[in-house]
Amino acid sequence: MDRQQRVLVIDFGGQYNQLIARRVRECHVYCEMKPHSVTLEEIRAFDPIGIIFTGGPNSVYLDDSPHIDPAIFELGVPILGICYGCQLMAHYLGGRVTEAQEDTAREYGKTHTFFDTSCRLFKGLPAEGVTWMSHGDYMAKVPAGFTLAAHTDACPNAAIADEARGFYGVQYHPEVNHTEHGLDMLRNFLFEVCRAKGDWTMGDYKQTAVESIRRTVGDGKVLLALSGGVDSSVAAALLAEAVGDQLTCVFVDHGLMRLNEGDEVEAAFAKWDINFVRVNAEQRFLTKLAGVTEPERKRKIIGEEFIRVFEEEAKKLGRVDYLAQGTIYPDVIESGTGTAAVIKSHHNVGGLPDYVDFREIIEPLRMLFKDEVRQLGRELGLPEYLVSRKPFPGPGLGIRVIGELTKPKLDLLRHADFIFRDEIAKAGLEDITDQFFAVLTNTPSVGVMGDGRTYSNVVALRAVATSDFMTADWVRIPYDVLDRISTRIVNEVPGVNRIVYDITSKPPATVEWE
Ligand code: XMP
Repeated sequence: MDRQQRVLVIDFGGQYNQLIARRVRECHVYCEMKPHSVTLEEIRAFDPIGIIFTGGPNSVYLDDSPHIDPAIFELGVPILGICYGCQLMAHYLGGRVTEAQEDTAREYGKTHTFFDTSCRLFKGLPAEGVTWMSHGDYMAKVPAGFTLAAHTDACPNAAIADEARGFYGVQYHPEVNHTEHGLDMLRNFLFEVCRAKGDWTMGDYKQTAVESIRRTVGDGKVLLALSGGVDSSVAAALLAEAVGDQLTCVFVDHGLMRLNEGDEVEAAFAKWDINFVRVNAEQRFLTKLAGVTEPERKRKIIGEEFIRVFEEEAKKLGRVDYLAQGTIYPDVIESGTGTAAVIKSHHNVGGLPDYVDFREIIEPLRMLFKDEVRQLGRELGLPEYLVSRKPFPGPGLGIRVIGELTKPKLDLLRHADFIFRDEIAKAGLEDITDQFFAVLTNTPSVGVMGDGRTYSNVVALRAVATSDFMTADWVRIPYDVLDRISTRIVNEVPGVNRIVYDITSKPPATVEWE
């Protein structure tokens, strides 16, 4: 079999770098990102069909800025330089980069740009459009052999090209959505310039990831905290495929899961030869949570207890070489963003234990976005209900039973929530909402059933549509579906006599009630 074509993305520290790698893979071309310290031998061994230099915050003319062995330009491999990467190419190939003066081209944000569509990078694309700029340096002199392939009002060399050698540089960021046709430009670089075939699939990614995990882990032991969510489940399946019984998955069932969820998670892993430890810790969590009503306290207790249970199980195993985590790319971005106010302290299960004896952490999904993780899960043969599952918070139903938690309340909510999910599925409406669930409101209300007065629980239904969960709109579920859900819950769940539907967006509300 031919070796899989690959593209090398060389990282110069820019904030959108992972996005570049993702865009390349969206074009079904395999790529990896390596730091700028990558050696020429490593690059040769990697054997890329194309190289992309990312952006970065530095200035190429300063000595302590990230650099690259200039022999890279002799490899005969096409190179696309983005922003800092473009300036670096100019710097090494005989051009000159200086700090932009006010009257030259320091540009930031959406910028109207004109393209030379006879350049392969812009083939078949409109001759003008918006690009996203973010640079304070300027190419005062373009290297010999390069033509000017795009300009803006302020900058004559928004893109440069040496078509003969396959070298291209763009000052703007084609990888971000703000750049119109940015993905098409990357696609042109890959297909027109690098002659990519575009035949890479998630199945290939699986194979590469499995091999790389095997290389890293050798005959070591791996431990993974499994929450039952998409990310940790896919990480577990991937590790299971790679290292089989060297893997131990600790699944802490905190008793705050939805109906049958614990059993479903356990069943999904039965086919692999792994050590699967399910800790039924419901009693333990409920004891810790008894009498606690304040949402943040609940979150803290659940998070801490999770780690304690996990640590206890890990210690039973003795020495563990690798701790695996289902970190995905959005988690990586979010942990980098520092100063936003804490609205809720999100507890992602799988937080690091303090004293488990392990050598290294492995995060096999670190490069993947959510939809890619789901795709990988399917490749690995995980059941669709696990793979396509909507996000479920680490503290589970613990933050959907308002006020004090008790087992009867949790059971009641599980039942109501199941009916809600069941009817949405039957109506084929799962795709119109990104998350939906029932809440036990801790508010009794008066009702009449049969001939008698009732005084029992109000259950609220919540369904939201969102792309990032930072803002969300409530979903207009058809009335007849809401009617069926309401009738079924009141008839089938003892202790519920009223259903309300939450029609608040975020902000001002949040998605969860607590
Ligand atoms: P909020 O309620 O903050 O929810 O608007 C946004 C998204 O985050 C989920 N969420 C959590 N996830 N631990 C988690 O792992 C938490 O403590 C937590 N609180 C909220 C929520 O389900 C929604 O998807």
